[in-house]
Order: sequence, then C-alpha cells, then structure tokens
Amino acid sequence: MLTVTQPPVESSLAGIARALVADGRGILAADESLPTIEKRFRTIDVESTEEARRSYRELLFTAPDVEQYISGVILFDGTTHQVDASGTPLVDVLTARGIIPGVKVDRGAKPLAGSPRETVTEGLDGLRERLHDYHERGLRFTKWRAVIAIGDGLPTPYCIRANADALARYAALSQEEGLVPIVEPEVLIDGDHTIERCYDVTEATLHYVFDVLHQHRVDLDAMLLKPNMVLSGKSCPDHATVEVVADMTVRCLLHSVPAAIPGIVFLSGGQTSEQATERLSAMNARAPEVPWQLSFSYGRALQEAPLNAWRGDPANTEAAQRALCHRARLNGAARYGRYEPEMEGELEAAPGGADAA
Ligand code: 13P
Repeated sequence: MLTVTQPPVESSLAGIARALVADGRGILAADESLPTIEKRFRTIDVESTEEARRSYRELLFTAPDVEQYISGVILFDGTTHQVDASGTPLVDVLTARGIIPGVKVDRGAKPLAGSPRETVTEGLDGLRERLHDYHERGLRFTKWRAVIAIGDGLPTPYCIRANADALARYAALSQEEGLVPIVEPEVLIDGDHTIERCYDVTEATLHYVFDVLHQHRVDLDAMLLKPNMVLSGKSCPDHATVEVVADMTVRCLLHSVPAAIPGIVFLSGGQTSEQATERLSAMNARAPEVPWQLSFSYGRALQEAPLNAWRGDPANTEAAQRALCHRARLNGAARYGRYEPEMEGELEAAPGGADAA
C-alpha cells in the first residue's frame, strides 16, 4: 500500500516566520547600534541621549495604524530594556499592538584577520545565553548582518565562507532557543562595480550561505533571508533601470534560494526611500509566481521621512508618525506590486498631513 507522508506539522517557529511576511506587511528595522543612531541623529541636530533614543523609537512603535503595514520590528539590545511612560517595556508595547518584536544579536562587523580590507561579523560568544534571555523577555525573532564588500580582488572566498559559517551558527542557535533567525548577508552598494558584478557576488554569497545553513541543520521553513537587491554600484556611471534591477534580483534569487524559505525581506542599503519601494513593487508586479514572499525589512528607507519630520521636537511627534505610516503604507502597496510614484504626494495632499502640522 502506498504510504502518503504527511507534511510536517506546522511548528510555531515556522508560523512566526510566515506572520512576519504576511500579506501587505513587512518589517521595520530600528536596530541601529549606538554609533549608527548617533550618526542618524546628527543629521537632524539631535544629541543621542538615552531619552532621545527612547522617545524617538517609542513614537515609531506607537504610530497610529502602523500595525496594518508593519508585521515586526527589529530592536537594538538597548531598546529591549527601555520602557514607556507608564513603565511598560517597549517590547510589550509592540506585542500588544500585534507587532512581533525581534532583536539584532550580532556584535558588528570587525576586520577579518588575514584579509584586513574585509570584515567578519562577531557575536557568537555567549550567544546561546543571550538568546535564551531574549526569548524569556518576549522577543520572537533575531537578526545577524554579515557584510560583503565588492572591490579590487574582493570579496575573497575566505571572507564569504567565514561570514557564512557565523551566520549558520547563529541561525541554528536561534532556532534552538525558539527564535526565528533573519539571515542577512549584505553585499554592499559601495563602489563603481556594474550590476552584473553585483549579481555574480550576490549569487556566490547566497550559494555559500545556503550550503552552510544546510550543514548546520537549519530549518529553512523557520527562517527568513534578508539580502541586498542586485544593484549597480553607487558610483557606477551606468545605473540600471527599475525593471532591470527587479528582473536581475529575482533571477539571482531563483538561482540560489531554496523554495522552502517562507520569505525574502530586502534591506534598503543606501537606496533612497522611493527607490527601495519602487524596486520592491516592480519585483512583485513582474514576478508574482516566485515561491517565497518578497517583502521589506527597511531601516533607512522607512525612517528617513519620520526622522526628518521629528527633528527631536515633541511637537512634531504626530507629523513624524504620519510620515512613517505613509512610507509603511507605500511599501505595503509594493508587497502587491501596486505602488505608483504618484502615491508619494498623498501625505502632503491629505488634510492635516505632515505639511499642515
Ligand atoms: P537599511 O534598510 O538601512 O539598509 O537597514 C536594514 C538593516 O537592518 C541593516 O542591517
């Protein structure tokens, strides 16, 4: 008699991974390290104090209706210890709104011994204990960012392998502690390389990463991939069109990412907010049949508008929240391939929009 194997029973980890890429929603990356948030605040002349960071992030997390478009937020460790005015941890504030809280757990990209122009991401020491503590405090997913630079003779296979090994160890440990890992191998936009070169480096990196994830027995159903889009280098004289970016990115992913992954959540990585939205929308419009959800996990491309609206002044809180919601809504539309550049003006046009505040 033919025995039909039942599909594996849905584990809660796989359920969380799918919830993070639910229809029309994506992830807000608000996990800037202390030096990075200081750099962002400097652009609006705000000093990066504990209280400034807390009130800025609280305004992001409590923006009215933002949960319609934001499924999860990635926090920095410091934020996981902060509380709102009523003493409620910000982690619980998110959970109560139906937004899944996650945390960046790597300790940053450090010079790679033997190849000093490259980096390897550190943070594995003591990671199991830290992950356990995060899970106890209500965090449900994690992120680890590896950085791959393109340049003369770069990247080396050694750098890609060292970073892939760390990503896989991190991902396996996260799943063991009941947390969904977001595996982020970022091929940087910096440089004058062509889009074809970015394609080749991204494809090679993803092949390494999935090979090592398999060796480390990482459950593909219970993780998300956070890659760069395939782009021309920032200072490349020849910039690819939105259609070429969308098609080459999708082709690269089809050639290197297993279909079992529930979702691919792009980083914005130096694109403008509009570019990040338009390119995601083009992918979803032109390739609706891909096996994974194509979504976003943007930092700068979601925060640039609210940061500039806020400028450290509590009187601007509502305007900043509207700016975030507007950006999140446009990216929500991009999830369906329905973003149009004309939608950019809708915030200003709306009565009581940011301009009116
Ligand atoms: P950007 O979207 O600003 O690249 O940030 C996403 C992120 O989380 C990088 O690790």
